[in-house]
Amino acid sequence: MVPITVLIGLFVSPIFAAALPVLERATPLSFDAGSIQEPVATAYDWISGYVSEFPIHSSCNTSERAEIYQGLQEAVLIAQHAKEHILVHGNNSELFKKYFGAGPTGPVLGWYDKIATANRAGVLFRCDDPDQNCATQDNWAGHWRGSNATSETVICELSYTTRWPLAAMCARGFDVATGRTSNYWAGDLMHRLYHTDIVGEGLVEHHADGYHGCVELAAGENYTLAASNSATLSYFAIEAYAYDIAVPGEGCLGKPVEKEDDGHGHGAASSSSSSSMTESTTSSTTATAAPASTTSINPTRVVQVPATTSSATLAQETAGKECHTHADGTLHCV
Ligand SMILES: *[C@@H]1O[C@H](CO)[C@@H](O)[C@H](O)[C@H]1NC(C)=O
Ligand SMILES: *[C@@H]1O[C@H](CO)[C@@H](O)[C@H](O)[C@H]1NC(C)=O
Ligand SMILES: *[C@@H]1O[C@H](CO)[C@@H](O)[C@H](O)[C@H]1NC(C)=O
Ligand SMILES: *[C@@H]1O[C@H](CO)[C@@H](O)[C@H](O)[C@H]1NC(C)=O
Repeated sequence: MVPITVLIGLFVSPIFAAALPVLERATPLSFDAGSIQEPVATAYDWISGYVSEFPIHSSCNTSERAEIYQGLQEAVLIAQHAKEHILVHGNNSELFKKYFGAGPTGPVLGWYDKIATANRAGVLFRCDDPDQNCATQDNWAGHWRGSNATSETVICELSYTTRWPLAAMCARGFDVATGRTSNYWAGDLMHRLYHTDIVGEGLVEHHADGYHGCVELAAGENYTLAASNSATLSYFAIEAYAYDIAVPGEGCLGKPVEKEDDGHGHGAASSSSSSSMTESTTSSTTATAAPASTTSINPTRVVQVPATTSSATLAQETAGKECHTHADGTLHCV
């Protein structure tokens, strides 16, 4: 089966960990849970409640479990690298400035550490479709169970045919500016993890979506919201991994072109020079209307791709698209 001791159990400094093979990387906790000795003088064991692996429900069969497990490992990996990038470069990082503006590094580090290191107890992934959303909703790849179970995530069958491993970073037609972070298991599951109360604490939300929306959020007056913007956290983690690790010093930003008007009529401006603003303004305007909640976005509709499309075709079809969610919960790709 799968290795169990990936998260903790090795003593490596966070900086040197970057040079190690993927499966030998360790979280930079100050303790080594595997080697902790049974206390002699006292029965108190402060770490006894720590669960190092995300629980996967018995409804997942062998292959589903293996894929979700691997995807979660990769979500942890990009969260850990994002954290280490910030720990090393601080706010001198151009990447940090692009996604978080003039904001402080502390809150961002904290949100990444929630996935990189924090206790996984109770953050359940399941495959049995208890809310019947996989069965009834059009092309859902998974969903957060919301008020039915705030720390549970359902993964639908579509995920197994559409999500890519990190090994395919910057391949299959993907680039950061026009691609979707949810193309990868790592980006998709990071997003899903932040929906859960245990990880996102109800604070990681949708203030802006898409590459352009995230960059504009960081550049605008509300840049401090970027630290807890779900899409921003996913984009920074994916781009940091792409640039630092997958294709070192190069990455795959792609061409952050201005968008064509998407024809959905949610903005007056439609010239090619301002239409990307149109799209992002739509997101932020929506968020502004209800700043304290995510009601403008249906959090379960995070990833939708055609069920009948093979992943190879999908790569071509989505490579040049950017998707955003409208106030009524519908998803548009432009
Ligand atoms: C697990 O279940 C899915 C969905 O029913 C199926 O497609 C897949 O073949 C199963 N895997 C194994 C190893 O049986
Ligand atoms: C970077 O952080 C320092 C404090 O450590 C702060 O003085 C400076 O303004 C920050 N720079 C930017 C661009 O946010
Ligand atoms: C919660 O359960 C109800 C009843 O089964 C269902 O209608 C609803 O869609 C579920 N909510 C989510 C977010 O799946
Ligand atoms: C920033 O947030 C405030 C308060 O929610 C809002 O009034 C303002 O329009 C936002 N600015 C931008 C550029 O979205």
